[in-house]
Amino acid sequence: MARVDLNLIIRNLRIISGLLLFIYSLMHLLNHSVNLISYEVADLVREKYFSPIWQSFIALVLLYSSFIIHILLGIYAIVRKKSFNMTLLEWAQLVMPFLALLLLIQHVAAGFIITKVFGGNETYELVFAAILSSPDQIVLDSIFWTLMTLFIWLHGVIGIHGLLKFKSEFYVRNFHLINFFYWIIPIFSILGFIAGLRGLSVLNYIKSLQGLDNYIFSVFEKNIPQQAFPVVFQIEPLVLKYYPIVIATLLLVILINMIRARFFGSIVIKYSNNQTVLVSKGTTVLEASRIAGIPHQSICGGKGRCTTCRIRILSSATSVPDPNEFETRAILKNGWDKDIRLACQLRPINAITILPILNPSSKFQSSGKHEILMGKESEIAILFVDLRNFTDLSERKLPFDVVYILNKYYEICGEAIERHSGRLDKFIGDGIMAIFDKQKFIEENSRNAINAAKEISSEMHDFNRQMKADFSEELKLGMGVHAGNTIVGLMGYGSTISETAVGDNVNIASRLETLTKDFECELVLSKYVVDKSGLNSDNLPSESVKLRGKADDFEIVPVKSVTDLVFLET
Ligand code: FES
Repeated sequence: MARVDLNLIIRNLRIISGLLLFIYSLMHLLNHSVNLISYEVADLVREKYFSPIWQSFIALVLLYSSFIIHILLGIYAIVRKKSFNMTLLEWAQLVMPFLALLLLIQHVAAGFIITKVFGGNETYELVFAAILSSPDQIVLDSIFWTLMTLFIWLHGVIGIHGLLKFKSEFYVRNFHLINFFYWIIPIFSILGFIAGLRGLSVLNYIKSLQGLDNYIFSVFEKNIPQQAFPVVFQIEPLVLKYYPIVIATLLLVILINMIRARFFGSIVIKYSNNQTVLVSKGTTVLEASRIAGIPHQSICGGKGRCTTCRIRILSSATSVPDPNEFETRAILKNGWDKDIRLACQLRPINAITILPILNPSSKFQSSGKHEILMGKESEIAILFVDLRNFTDLSERKLPFDVVYILNKYYEICGEAIERHSGRLDKFIGDGIMAIFDKQKFIEENSRNAINAAKEISSEMHDFNRQMKADFSEELKLGMGVHAGNTIVGLMGYGSTISETAVGDNVNIASRLETLTKDFECELVLSKYVVDKSGLNSDNLPSESVKLRGKADDFEIVPVKSVTDLVFLET
């Protein structure tokens, strides 16, 4: 029978309940924003669109159970923690919901009791009336409501961001736009809240001028059944009385846990530099590093998503626990050998000696682009362009002319490459390397690279007319295109770090460009890229060549007239 991984179940439950709550919050905040028009319209929208979705029996069960499950699992995760040596963001995600819960529990409980137990209505008008009923507390209550909204929303956003930045390329690519919505939604919601509160306050004032002094209380009577009042009025004192006790108990458990892990540990974790840490059973290796203040990469904060915390087990007193689901996935995906483990998931049961694999002081940590930071395999096309006769030419021309010609050539190539969804990777003297990886499939990336080469060729022919007139010279190009599964990642040092590609396929593309001299042509394509791109190869005979570093012959397609290349209809 398949082994049930409790950690995975807990993780999935947390994610699913969190996602459901996030969707609810999103719709709730959008509804708040409608108060910018008026609270009557916001109530109308709530009744017509919001309630039908969330007030069905199934939705209510899912919503309330998600609320409870998410809180309980959050508490469970905190109680299990042995170290609170965390980043600011991790602290924010941990503390914000506890601050917000003080008010949120009252809000949820009151809503449930009024609507589900006593059959009343929880309208915006009622919420604003409740705030206006204590005039000396209006400012404070408004601040608390605003903070509650912000804290809950930000907690959700940090969670979603932590989840998607390692999983979704679409998310990473469109983060600027998504980030805009992350901020604009709570801002509009808070503005809506203030506008609605102000709207009811003005109405209350008008009513008082008309001699109706207890308009606010008439709102209560309209929405809350008489029998509900005594129960609803019990909520606040009860929450204020017991919430601090719950928090204090939680803090005590955390403290005991930390003391146990730090001072009564029985498991020795030894690092490759001979540093040792004594921790209690159940402590992860990452927590051990944090307890001892040993720098250890952990971009995802120990959630098993980024693999930056990985270690090599150099020796162990007894066998180490089997990898859990998160580790198993990482091991299978990356093809690690069995000694490589995730420090944030491994909880040793006996003495071990380990070596953290990633340099903890690497500047890469701040990049935030996890996938390219770690390197990933992508189906990309690579284009190399080089000026054939430029060294000779530069010796005969004035420096000003050389700079002008080179810049014009860079401009032509750069524009053509970018127009076809490529990116300039490097300038190597008068050579250019470009990567085409914007599309998911190699077919499209290959087609883009060939189209860019076509355009470069055509533009350079035009430019050569001007060159001939102005300088009595012509520029000759050599280009090579190959495609394949290639390692792409952030490489370099300090300010020179950039996303680039390395490996066999890059070398091949570069060698194809060099072959243009031997074949006296402008472009050499690999046969592979020709096939993948769907190029019409009727008049393009292939050749077998020996490439440096390749044992087998390599199929290439020399192209004399680049601008005549056409693709087969798809
Ligand atoms: S810290 Fe991210 S996987 Fe361990």
